[in-house]
Amino acid sequence: MDAFRLAPCGPLRGRLRVPGDKSVTHRGLMLLALAEGEGRLFYPLKAGDTLSTARVLRALGAEILEEGPHFLVRGRGLRFQEPEDVLDCGNAGTLMRLLLGLLAGQEGLFAVLTGDASLRRRPMGRVVEPLRAMGARVDGREEGERAPLAVKGGPLKGIRYTLPVPSAQVKSALLLAGLFAEEVTEVEEPTPTRDHTERLFRHFGLPLEAEGRKVRTWRTEPFPAKDLVVPGDFSSAAFFLVAALVTPGSEVVVEGVGLNPTRTGLLTVLKAMGADLEWRVLEGEAGEPVGWVRARYSPLMGVSVDPGLIPLMVDEVPVLAAAAAWAEGETYIPGLSELRVKESDRVRAIAENLRALGVEVEEGPDWLRIRGGGVRPGRVRPFHDHRIAMAFAVAGLPVGVEVEEPHWAEISYPGFFQDLLGLCAAS
Ligand code: S3P
Repeated sequence: MDAFRLAPCGPLRGRLRVPGDKSVTHRGLMLLALAEGEGRLFYPLKAGDTLSTARVLRALGAEILEEGPHFLVRGRGLRFQEPEDVLDCGNAGTLMRLLLGLLAGQEGLFAVLTGDASLRRRPMGRVVEPLRAMGARVDGREEGERAPLAVKGGPLKGIRYTLPVPSAQVKSALLLAGLFAEEVTEVEEPTPTRDHTERLFRHFGLPLEAEGRKVRTWRTEPFPAKDLVVPGDFSSAAFFLVAALVTPGSEVVVEGVGLNPTRTGLLTVLKAMGADLEWRVLEGEAGEPVGWVRARYSPLMGVSVDPGLIPLMVDEVPVLAAAAAWAEGETYIPGLSELRVKESDRVRAIAENLRALGVEVEEGPDWLRIRGGGVRPGRVRPFHDHRIAMAFAVAGLPVGVEVEEPHWAEISYPGFFQDLLGLCAAS
């Protein structure tokens, strides 16, 4: 489809569940593929990115079967099989970066990792460099900065490493490699990032010690598989929460959603903007807090965002920009340098799409200043980026919007547009 035309939507009303968490699904599949025996991943995300992970792990010898909405995984007991062909990571940065960590210690195994045009442009040196310091043999374009990358597994030794950029992907790649290394691997993060890997290490009984901003792991023995329930993805829920906040008369409840505090920085910022939001943690699944969030239409005010919150909402900045466009006054969002190297240059994609909807916006190297007051109908471009497609569908929803190449949403949320329309129709 060329473009998806969303008519102006009246109040959004209803309850919904969003698809499984993308970060937990990637990690759950990887750890079950490493484990010994059979384990089930309940309610995983089945979308472009995580299906790439399943495909790559199958090429490495793991058995992954579909059981209705769930996955049954038969793991390899720490030892992967050499893939016969290049491993295509598609659009998934998490897959490529974590996989480098997983494969670096597979002695004698050779693998080549590639991906789509967006992934081949993204920086990989941030993972390759510390892995090399652990003894990994990785080569690639621009000295290993870009994929395709070739890995030859070999012996690793632990390192102590301070992350130069706040990145859960880099932290996770090093922790996974650390499971195969002599001595301790310690990663220190200057600002906290999502901690799903740490929580899953605990779930599977893998070696892990955390102390302040430092986390340590070391060589593991073969470990048994264990079932895992994947919570709904807070990053997917965020689109409906903001859609309800900016559309008069709306009230939406998202149920069964992951509320890990390293993911919910957006709630803090929206509250400061005056959002009528309520949430409750009801249970824990695989060490992840899960609950519901309710959003009611609210007149929002512009704010100056604390840059320290950005790593806790790094994927929600596009939808925060949608909220800011509807707020009264100016919103300033600093700390955005990492957004330049996501699936698209998100700072630029946000600025261009806001302008396409008639919003005044100023763009700096790592900041955005958005003059709120509402948007006018227009046509937006995803820039090959799922979150840009969904965020700008939300930004334009109250007045009507055309979203080019809507299929990009399927990278993390197949059925997004139907779910959005379903809530409009429920009113
Ligand atoms: C992710 C970490 C974040 C995030 C990405 C998923 C993860 O990337 O943007 O969508 O699952 O670890 P960085 O770690 O590069 O910030």
